[in-house]
Amino acid sequence: MSLKRAKITGVGRYVPEYVLTNAELETLVDTNDEWIRSRTGISERRILKDPEKATAFMAEKASREALEEAGVDASEIDAIVIATVTPDYIFPATAALVQKRIGATKAYGFDLSAACSGFLYALSTGGMMIESGRAKKVLVVGADKMSAIVDYTDRTTCILFGDAAGAVVLEEADSGGLIDFVHHTEGDEDCMLYQPAGGSLRPASIETVQNRMHSLRQDGRSVFKKATEGMADVSLEIMERNNLKGDDVAWLVPHQANLRIINATARRVGLSTDKVMVNIDKYGNTTAATIPLCLYDWKDKLKNGDKLILSAFGGGLTWGAVYLEWNK
Ligand code: COA
Repeated sequence: MSLKRAKITGVGRYVPEYVLTNAELETLVDTNDEWIRSRTGISERRILKDPEKATAFMAEKASREALEEAGVDASEIDAIVIATVTPDYIFPATAALVQKRIGATKAYGFDLSAACSGFLYALSTGGMMIESGRAKKVLVVGADKMSAIVDYTDRTTCILFGDAAGAVVLEEADSGGLIDFVHHTEGDEDCMLYQPAGGSLRPASIETVQNRMHSLRQDGRSVFKKATEGMADVSLEIMERNNLKGDDVAWLVPHQANLRIINATARRVGLSTDKVMVNIDKYGNTTAATIPLCLYDWKDKLKNGDKLILSAFGGGLTWGAVYLEWNK
């Protein structure tokens, strides 16, 4: 068994072409561009319009790009972990569909459900597979077609979410790579953020459809408070236990749920806004895809040796952080 760390060797992404602007949302619900931008930082989000395409389609596209950048053939992949709360089906897993479509003939794969923290949970899971020596090359994907579970008559949620996928290839590192992670979970029995129906507790029925129970519901104010505390706390926790000060960190890579949550996290950990990756204005909250979308958008700026703190908060409730040293 080796004890090698894992590092990211390729990043890919897929964003649908269709741009849903704040102006278009004004035609659907009682809202306005100024409210959305000032309360969330979002100007537009992407929507996968084709009803025949869903999360596996986006995950496949992102995976192919990540593999190409890494110079890794799909047949070399040992395992595929896909974080999503909008799988194509309850089963089979989205990872199984992607395994077949990209030709990852020797890989096993599974989906991981941790909502907006999903990519970080998946990244650390893939990292541990490599650290244990059980896997040499792992594909980690965060992908969500949020438009499939958003209620476009609910102005408090429909303005927030978009569709996208991001993927990374993990391989053994000689130095740097994924150094540490911290994850937390606190069962959301109060249903602050959840999809009421479609699971085994409330399977689809006329009643669940009529009451729009297959769409996500959120107590925005409570989630906002929890997310602001959780993202800042977990970012500080991982920095303190690795003796990192704000000046040591090259980039904070926060989950993109709300610009005010991102800014509060940056303030708490002592990072100026020019060291924080923010692209929420273009994509909104794409759930498991936000963090790889940031890595993708910033990849030309990342230098070997840069210390990155990735942090997220989401439904579950789940929150977590990953400390990695960029080394590609
Ligand atoms: N357009 C216009 N007004 C809106 C609106 C919209 N889209 N959505 C809500 N409002 C109204 C509310 O009805 C409320 O009106 P009232 O004061 O007359 O009751 C007012 O705006 C303020 O609502 P509030 O919920 O307090 O706003 P907020 O500042 O908390 O912002 C969210 C709402 C959803 C943007 C914010 O709570 C949030 O980002 N929550 C966390 C989201 C999140 O992180 N979710 C995923 C976890 S990863």
